[in-house]
Amino acid sequence: MRDTILSLSLKAKRERKTHSVVVVLSPLPLGEGPGVRDTIRPLSLMARGERKTHSVVVVLSPLPLGEGPGVRDVLERWDMKNILVTGGAGFIGSAYVRNMIARRPDERYIVLDKLTYAGNLDNLKPVQNSPQYRFYQGDIADRETVHAIIEQESIDAIVNFAADSHVDRSILEPDAFIRTDVFGVYVLLETARAMGVKRFHQVSTDEVYGSIPEGKFREGDPLEPNSPYAASKAGGELLVRAYHVTYGLHTTVTRGSNTFGPYQYPEKVLPLFVTEAIDDRPLPVYGDGMQVRDWLYVDDHADAVDLALHKGAPGEVYNVGGDQERHNIDVTRLILQLLGKPETLIRHVEDRPGHDRRYALDSSKIRALGWSPAQDFEARLAETVRWYQTNEWWWRKIKTGEYMQYFKKQYGARLGAES
Ligand code: NAD
Ligand code: TYD
Repeated sequence: MRDTILSLSLKAKRERKTHSVVVVLSPLPLGEGPGVRDTIRPLSLMARGERKTHSVVVVLSPLPLGEGPGVRDVLERWDMKNILVTGGAGFIGSAYVRNMIARRPDERYIVLDKLTYAGNLDNLKPVQNSPQYRFYQGDIADRETVHAIIEQESIDAIVNFAADSHVDRSILEPDAFIRTDVFGVYVLLETARAMGVKRFHQVSTDEVYGSIPEGKFREGDPLEPNSPYAASKAGGELLVRAYHVTYGLHTTVTRGSNTFGPYQYPEKVLPLFVTEAIDDRPLPVYGDGMQVRDWLYVDDHADAVDLALHKGAPGEVYNVGGDQERHNIDVTRLILQLLGKPETLIRHVEDRPGHDRRYALDSSKIRALGWSPAQDFEARLAETVRWYQTNEWWWRKIKTGEYMQYFKKQYGARLGAES
């Protein structure tokens, strides 16, 4: 399909007062199937005709011709076949790759991942033999690597999931966060710009806003990040903005809320608590446990990224919240219930410094693009807990070596002899 769209050419264009008129010359047939009509579905056909080898279509569109989300943009929208997914061996990136390979048979997903402690090729096992998939191990902050892959794979779009992503680790050792989440994003943007990559999507987080006692954050609200992780993500995002405004790079950003599901590295609270509770170990709840997080299922997060990439307007930011706010202590109790474990496993331990009390997002902007998340947090959580119960092969081998060193650093003093 995308090849056919590539071959559409704008022959003439004109602007009327409220609409643009575009004449499209295409080697595609007008009729049923993957024809011209299919390609320009979002616009309205004014007139059509057939020449010997081409279809001629006159399109009337309420969109402008010029910069921004105009007619040209719609016609070019599908002109992407080779998607570079950075950080695609992590939790959300791998879900995106697995899901999109199934959903979009005309696109290829090329993963670039450094395979840090959080990167895991087991996450990509379900697609490892797909002709739509390719893997490169490398660092987004390494210009030569990024350049070579973009050239070799004729990359059309970049979706950047790569990040150091855990708040507690950013408090212990912020260096890697600045290097990957800020400088790495810069290298990707600069290479994308220099090499004419058509789209750049940045996967960001609700944490860039900081904490909100009541109400919900909207996209225009100020960024007030409170942890080194959140600050590095905000820095990366601001570079994305600058590359759009200054160089006209077609960028989009999603700010997702706390994400959960299978294949999540067991340092984040949900898989940490599930896997610790399976082993009857204590669950370290920070402070009073009354902090609020808005939970988003991983497949919903991946869908939002896909939607923003394909349909988002250039330069725009989209909040992606699950609308499932829960207190940490309630989620902890639910996990224990689902596993049939006693609440005596709960330990209230020393709080995280700078701990954001509440996150909440107004996601009406991405909903208006056609996104809607699964509403039933409890059912999704039950499925997720079951996944960790039945996939011990995946997480038991992670909880050794480097993981145990981190665990001791983070929880040794908090849990004392129990750690
Ligand atoms: P993750 O830690 O599971 O995965 C990150 C991946 O990036 C890993 O595979 C890692 O090897 C790779 N990576 C790290 N540094 C790299 C580098 N320099 N070059 C190449 N690859 C590198 O993270 P995740 O939870 O899947 O999060 C993915 C993205 O989504 C991140 O950008 C994160 O900020 C954002 N996000 C996460 C959540 C959440 O709740 N997990 C919520 C909102 C936004
Ligand atoms: P986390 O999964 O680290 O995500 P984030 O900090 O990005 O929201 O933590 C989710 C919530 O759970 C957060 O309020 C901190 C809390 N938490 C604990 O109470 N104990 C823990 O051991 C961890 C890792 C998190």
